[in-house]
Amino acid sequence: MRILVTGGTGFLGKRLCAALVGQGHAVVPLSSKNCNLTQPMALSRYSDGAYDRIYHLAAWTQAGDFCLHHAGEQWIINQLINTNVLEWWQRCQPQARMISMGTSCAYAPDQEMAEENYLVGMPIDSLYTYAMTKRMLYVGMQALSKQFGVKYVHFVPSTLYGPGYHTDGRQMHFVFDLIRKILRGKLYGEPVVLWGDGYQKRELVYVEDFVGSVIALSDRDNELINIGAGQEFTIRHFAGVICQKVGFDAESVTYDTSRYVGARSKCLSVRRLRSLLPGLEFTPLEHGLGRTIEWFAEDRARLQ
Ligand SMILES: NC(=O)c1ccc[n+]([C@@H]2O[C@H](COP(=O)([O-])OP(=O)(O)OC[C@H]3O[C@@H](n4cnc5c(N)ncnc54)[C@H](OP(=O)(O)O)[C@@H]3O)[C@@H](O)[C@H]2O)c1
Repeated sequence: MRILVTGGTGFLGKRLCAALVGQGHAVVPLSSKNCNLTQPMALSRYSDGAYDRIYHLAAWTQAGDFCLHHAGEQWIINQLINTNVLEWWQRCQPQARMISMGTSCAYAPDQEMAEENYLVGMPIDSLYTYAMTKRMLYVGMQALSKQFGVKYVHFVPSTLYGPGYHTDGRQMHFVFDLIRKILRGKLYGEPVVLWGDGYQKRELVYVEDFVGSVIALSDRDNELINIGAGQEFTIRHFAGVICQKVGFDAESVTYDTSRYVGARSKCLSVRRLRSLLPGLEFTPLEHGLGRTIEWFAEDRARLQ
């Protein structure tokens, strides 16, 4: 197949492109450098020939409290990116299936995180704008499908982890931040202070497992599908496993309750995923964390 991937240089995009190339597909990976999607005509030079699939991963965001401080910029940049991609898809590549990425923070905290609730209620305040741009992406695909008959799948990932994360100083997803802090505690004797009380719960999916599920489900018609592990753990649990793997005393980890923690609990309903892929097995947390820690520890520059 001929496949275009926006966000092909990102944490997820690199893994997805490698897997698609490994399956023998012709893949065109885009980034902000070779195709700035905030520009209306950016995709015009990729219009030669028909694509079978477009994986739309590009988004402007970071983890931690980034969304809290960049709400206006996120609205403009992500709306431009998504509108330009959807407009080009409908006008130039209507035969291609659009496969896009949503976010678990689009779910309202008082609703079950099940697909039928994706547009129900209000997303958490600190992530509201980012969440709404993802909802609008989904609404846009629904609208284009309804009027023009184009096909899409919208995947909602829980937090992804694994080797190969960004080490360029941007805000990290919590698990990378935990690993970095605990490794620095072990190697440099720095105090390990984690955000919140440590009882907030999170769900993780190993990035290779996520890529496998996405590829397996890319031919679904006009569906929204959560991809999560279906099980969440406290930050204290994650910290305990990492301390044990790194050889650091978990008792010396302290918690700063004045810092931003986001939602108290985040766990996707995976009923639909399990019904579509009944044999699906995810990498056990201990193995996935072990591989991620090894990757971090290979190069001390990654710990800066
Ligand atoms: N990672 C997770 O845990 C997670 C969880 C839920 C949802 N998602 C979603 O999954 C997708 C991929 O996530 P990720 O972690 O791989 O993100 P990422 O590492 O931050 O990568 C973002 C990608 O978007 C590209 N991009 C940003 N601004 C752009 C612009 N103006 N024009 C063109 N490309 C632009 C970046 O290009 P450059 O390399 O040039 O900057 C990069 O390739 C995103 O839509 C994200 O919302 C991820």
